[in-house]
Amino acid sequence: MSTDLAIETSGLVKVFGENRAVDGVDLRVAAGTVYGVLGPNGAGKTTTVRMLATLLRPDAGEARVFGKDVRKDADAVRSRVSLTGQYASVDEDLTGLENLILLARLLGHARPAARERAAQLLEAFGLREAADKQVKNYSGGMRRRIDIAASILNTPDLLFLDEPTTGLDPRSRNQVWDIVRAVVAQGTTVLLTTQYLDEADHLASRIAVIDHGRVIAEGTKGELKASVGTGAVHLRLREADQRPQAERVLAAALGAEVLLDPDPVALTARVDAGGGDRGAAEQAAHALAELARNGITVDNFSLGQPSLDEVFLALTDKKGQAA
Ligand SMILES: Nc1ncnc2c1ncn2[C@@H]1O[C@H](COP(=O)(O)OP(=O)(O)OP(=O)(O)O)[C@@H](O)[C@H]1O
Ligand SMILES: [Mg+2]
Repeated sequence: MSTDLAIETSGLVKVFGENRAVDGVDLRVAAGTVYGVLGPNGAGKTTTVRMLATLLRPDAGEARVFGKDVRKDADAVRSRVSLTGQYASVDEDLTGLENLILLARLLGHARPAARERAAQLLEAFGLREAADKQVKNYSGGMRRRIDIAASILNTPDLLFLDEPTTGLDPRSRNQVWDIVRAVVAQGTTVLLTTQYLDEADHLASRIAVIDHGRVIAEGTKGELKASVGTGAVHLRLREADQRPQAERVLAAALGAEVLLDPDPVALTARVDAGGGDRGAAEQAAHALAELARNGITVDNFSLGQPSLDEVFLALTDKKGQAA
């Protein structure tokens, strides 16, 4: 058993009734890194995390955390991990400061040490002003930050962050990302679940994409991007009746599949910048020029990262081709 792995699972399974929520998951997470688990609603992210944090018993397969079996050595695992849940643990009626002091006391800190640690975290997380407000009056972003603060009162060796930014505005997301980076800089390994590709992209060094309880792709960001395409061109046309022609021109210019959005003037195409000769921006510029040359009027154009939907489409395409 390699000791530089924070997490190692093989064939991990959790079944709820007929539903194989986690259906044979293999993960290897190097210590000291941020590992992203990316997947849509119901993919099995929380269930996987709960098994790794010893809150749920696996039905089959193996899972080790720092070499300790989550079933046979649950106490040893628990002593090294902390979990910030999608539905977290702080008491709504207490203030931020009271919550952190209470939890620090429960972890065995003496009162002065508990107070000091609480104050330090509130400061670090930009919550000093909110220290004496009841948590039920916190904004979503403040709430998420106090949840994470609560989970690192004792610096854990492994921190599970289950969708730490779902529903947050961009500024709050950035604050949470900064916190995650700071936690990792102190040596903690982070397993982060998210529905957002760009979040995994910003924070994680490796990513597992899961769907229906299975890992459908795994790799470094570079590897996944190369396999999925880094860009998506989104277009809005002036005239809906030019769309079929625009679809053909785009498909030819980009050599990629073009998706028709529900909006009748909108199209999306993937731009592969993985190993190709030309960068995504250059390919997109070429596509725009081709549209203009064919007399198609474009009202709005953007080049962005693929959405999770597009990633899944690309991954499913791949499987289709391989079969
Ligand atoms: N305690 C439970 N009892 C029965 N079914 C459950 C339970 N927990 C999860 N499930 C089911 O297992 C599947 C995976 O759920 P899970 O919560 O792990 O997904 P998730 O990837 O965390 O989704 P989300 O992004 O919505 O949080 C879903 O179909 C869910 O309905
Ligand atoms: Mg979940």
